[in-house]
Amino acid sequence: MISTTSYTSESLIIEGGFKLKGKVRISGSKNASLPIIMSTLLTKETCHIEDVPDLLDVKNSVELLRLLGAQVIQGPNFLTIDASKVNSYIAPDYLVRRMRASVLAMGPLLARFKKAVVAMPGGCSIGVRAIDQHLKVFEKAGAHIKVQHGYIHLELKDIKPVEYTFEVVTVTGTENALMFLSMCEKRSILRNIAIEPEVMDLIEVLRKMGASIQVEGRTAIIRGCSELGGFTHRVIPDRIEAGTFLVAGFMTKGDIELENVRVDHLGSVIEKLKEAGAHIEVYGTDRIRVYSKGNGIKPLSISTSEYPGFPTDMQAQFMAMCCLADGWSDITENIFENRFQHVAELKRMGADIYVKGRTAFIRGVEKLTGAEVFSTDLRASASLVLAGLVAEGKTIVRDIYHLDRGYERLDEKLRNLGALIERKASYE
Ligand code: EPZ
Repeated sequence: MISTTSYTSESLIIEGGFKLKGKVRISGSKNASLPIIMSTLLTKETCHIEDVPDLLDVKNSVELLRLLGAQVIQGPNFLTIDASKVNSYIAPDYLVRRMRASVLAMGPLLARFKKAVVAMPGGCSIGVRAIDQHLKVFEKAGAHIKVQHGYIHLELKDIKPVEYTFEVVTVTGTENALMFLSMCEKRSILRNIAIEPEVMDLIEVLRKMGASIQVEGRTAIIRGCSELGGFTHRVIPDRIEAGTFLVAGFMTKGDIELENVRVDHLGSVIEKLKEAGAHIEVYGTDRIRVYSKGNGIKPLSISTSEYPGFPTDMQAQFMAMCCLADGWSDITENIFENRFQHVAELKRMGADIYVKGRTAFIRGVEKLTGAEVFSTDLRASASLVLAGLVAEGKTIVRDIYHLDRGYERLDEKLRNLGALIERKASYE
């Protein structure tokens, strides 16, 4: 289990140059788990969630649910949640600041209690992360919304059916709306929704709870019900953890096999890896092997977009790989306005990168050298670990609570594949 003491002061020490070999099991998806955990607020029946990853973000979500009055039994990779006795609809500032995905409590609380008070989610290091689209759906359903003392206060009489076209494709905005409208018995239509696998996994859960949700392209038709039931659900595998390991296996010129993956969720990532020269073998629907034949890394041109396009959550990891490509690569980040903070840290390791607007240009270099680098956000810290695996000498990645938010025992899994990596308190 993650200890909360790791919150501020641990580092990873990595000795580069070891090929990864062997098998690794991918954990359940963080970004599917978080909305599914919040969806339990919609019912008074007991819910069982399996293959939940042991992450800081999951711990924070459980803390929020308990604060609201839910009973949560947390075991190794499973949660049993009974929200029948929830007696509060306030998501406090200290928790929302710690985990902005707490904003996913808003839809369920408003639907169930016709009230919600949620602290404004601060921005975060990768961008403003607005929630205007979330609020527009609630407004259309009749909610009265005001912002006071840093909190968003929402209140409504009855949920009116909504017909809304999202102005931007938003993952948690879609998830908040779907959970909220699952308690509206009349027909609602949402257009331009996000269709990430994590959104579809939440839809599976809402259907199990009794909501009728049809999805055609980016349009969802929802018929909810006033009394939703409990559910048992196994969370889909984490496609971003899987993508991270695929890059690691290729970058280190290794040969690894991933178990518990959804191959159909990794289309654009697998295509780009093959373009870079990786050899990929798919076994059935849930196992993938990646290996290198000692060939170099071909440069890439990447542009992030909503699913099924190339995922923004894989951008930093591919950038680490492109640092060693045979030539110039370019990576354009279209989803967030400030998701290049790993650039400065990679340059400390000898990478040759420059950023112009939303595009990073990476000239491949012969080698990277180990350095002390700082994590700034979840996927940036993953890219620094990848760079450390191939850098000459020792790399120290500081502030790895960012990593622990989204990767379950990453250092242990890498060590089991042959990496020389260990976790240390930062002051050591
Ligand atoms: C989700 O964040 C994920 N988090 C992110 O993963 C992921 O990077 C992102 O989707 C994009 O795929 C979770 O699912 C918990 P968005 P979310 O709303 O929902 C703008 C990780 O590494 N926008 O799809 O917050 C927004 O500013 C994390 O696991 C509005 O303008 O992202 C951004 O530029 C990082 N108004 C873009 O849309 C809104 O109301 C996409 O944001 C909502 C969003």
